[in-house]
Amino acid sequence: MYDLIVVGSGPGGYIAAIRAAQLGLKVACIDKRKSPGGTCLNVGCIPSKALLQSTEQLEWLQKSSGDQGFKLGEVSLDFGMMMSRKEGIVGGLVDGIHSLFKRYDIAYLQGNASFIDPHTIEIVDGTERQTAVAKFIIIATGSEPIDLPFLRFDEKTVISSTGALCLKEPPKRLVVIGGGAIGVELASVYRRLGSAVMIVEMLETITPTMDPAICKQLLQSLKKQGIDFMLGAKVTGAQINKGTVTLGIEHKQKNTQLEADIALIAIGRRPYTKQLGLEAIGINPTPKGFIPVDGNFKTSLPHIFAIGDVIEGPMLAHRASHEGTAVAELIMGRSATVNYMSIPNVIYTHPEAASVGLTEVEAKEAGLNIVIGTSYFRGNGRARCNGETEGFVKIIGEKTTGRLVGMHIVGPHASELIAEGILALDKKATIHDIANACHPHPTLSEVMMEAAINCL
Ligand code: NAI
Repeated sequence: MYDLIVVGSGPGGYIAAIRAAQLGLKVACIDKRKSPGGTCLNVGCIPSKALLQSTEQLEWLQKSSGDQGFKLGEVSLDFGMMMSRKEGIVGGLVDGIHSLFKRYDIAYLQGNASFIDPHTIEIVDGTERQTAVAKFIIIATGSEPIDLPFLRFDEKTVISSTGALCLKEPPKRLVVIGGGAIGVELASVYRRLGSAVMIVEMLETITPTMDPAICKQLLQSLKKQGIDFMLGAKVTGAQINKGTVTLGIEHKQKNTQLEADIALIAIGRRPYTKQLGLEAIGINPTPKGFIPVDGNFKTSLPHIFAIGDVIEGPMLAHRASHEGTAVAELIMGRSATVNYMSIPNVIYTHPEAASVGLTEVEAKEAGLNIVIGTSYFRGNGRARCNGETEGFVKIIGEKTTGRLVGMHIVGPHASELIAEGILALDKKATIHDIANACHPHPTLSEVMMEAAINCL
């Protein structure tokens, strides 16, 4: 008998398991994979960032290192070695979770979990079956990629992000369906590796959750790097023939065709609750598959909680981790909240895009009286020394109170710079606070201070 079983060992599940064990609970964590870490660590955030880093450096060596006087000759890439490095990074971090589980005496049970009754879970791994019983249960089973009814994943010609992270070689022609976070990140990887890349996006913009000004700059930068885009385009059909894929596309009221060697579908993800047997215990997911929870992450059964991608909200690893920590605290009778206003959104392209809080459109829709300040990296000394001057910081504040409402960055190291905006929003700081704080010179962070000054 465990105090707590966590189903799913992704960034929601393993963080919840570790925090609960630190607080004194006897914990088991179940996952269908041999290696804990979920999608994020095994086939998502971490391996994609490893490939983004390698290919970004390759591109710099090939195209920009000459600007600083380097004479390198021809720079080429050992694709296999790049992939092995990625696998090594994932393996090292998986080992890290195993050792944390060991340190906190958390049982890692491998297999597919399904409910037998509200406190009992059956775990099936091949022919082996076992059951585990717990007082509390957290469902943190994450999400899975969505494909199209006429174009199913085979992970060879029609791939998901999982397949895109372990190709044997870069395709000559890659079509990416969906210009969201996954689409633009993986398009960047393969464009840098020499593939001809076309992104087909249904909307008139890419990365639609970002502030429109950020989307516009990102689109411009990615186009300049050689990625092609078909915006406002609907994929209506597909044919696979001898290892190539031909898409039927409706674009600007015309029907057109697009042929590629590989199609990557990146049109979103759906909650993964298959095989959990939720019906057996009376938990009814929404029509989109999300598990309904209350403000304390409790399902319709008060001892069963759900966190991360299986509940409504942005499908982000750091959000799941935050919720995981909160639930562990709540189970122990402590108070815990998640401030959804200060959850950042980051896209690891070059330049990177990062945002926290409301976009200009959302702030206006909320009826806020806002002030906006923008400052550009091209005027920043450090950005010039680094040879990375693309992009800007846009800060949105509330006019009367001065409260920070949103921070949006497209530019070098946006993923790190956004931390200042997160803390400011979380602590209800004002644009004056950011403007008055002494930022070190010369650093990229000065652009944030200047954007705040430009609001005043
Ligand atoms: P997404 O929801 O971010 O973007 C999907 C895109 O596909 C949207 O722009 C949408 O308009 C478009 N789309 C939808 N149906 C389409 C169709 N039939 N034809 C053409 N375009 C279509 O989904 P994505 O990129 O697959 O990512 C899944 C989840 O993983 C998201 O919630 C995302 O936030 C998260 N994620 C976050 C990352 C990060 O924070 N850097 C990286 C990777 C994923």
